[in-house]
Amino acid sequence: MTDTQLNAGSINEIKPGKMKRVDAGNGKRILICHVEDSFYAVDDMCTHEDASLYLGCLKGDRVHCSLHGGEFSVKTGEPLAEPAEIPLQTYPVAIVDGRILVTV
Ligand code: FES
Repeated sequence: MTDTQLNAGSINEIKPGKMKRVDAGNGKRILICHVEDSFYAVDDMCTHEDASLYLGCLKGDRVHCSLHGGEFSVKTGEPLAEPAEIPLQTYPVAIVDGRILVTV
């Protein structure tokens, strides 16, 4: 499967410390996270069970799952708090002319 570039909208739509969920097609959803001066993209679905991380919250560079309290780094996808054990998929982000482009 070849990579595609997803236009996730304007950088102005997501304030620092906030997240946006975007549809990547085929039922896949991606979370765009604004951490300090950078944007990161990770899978929206928690790797512990089926819960949308968008329903949780972003604390610094950690996304906190609302279902059981697992946490992941949005920079690396690493699980940082149990019961999360499996890393989240991360995606490269490029900012072009104020647009957030995610390679999926
Ligand atoms: S579903 Fe996210 S920690 Fe359990």
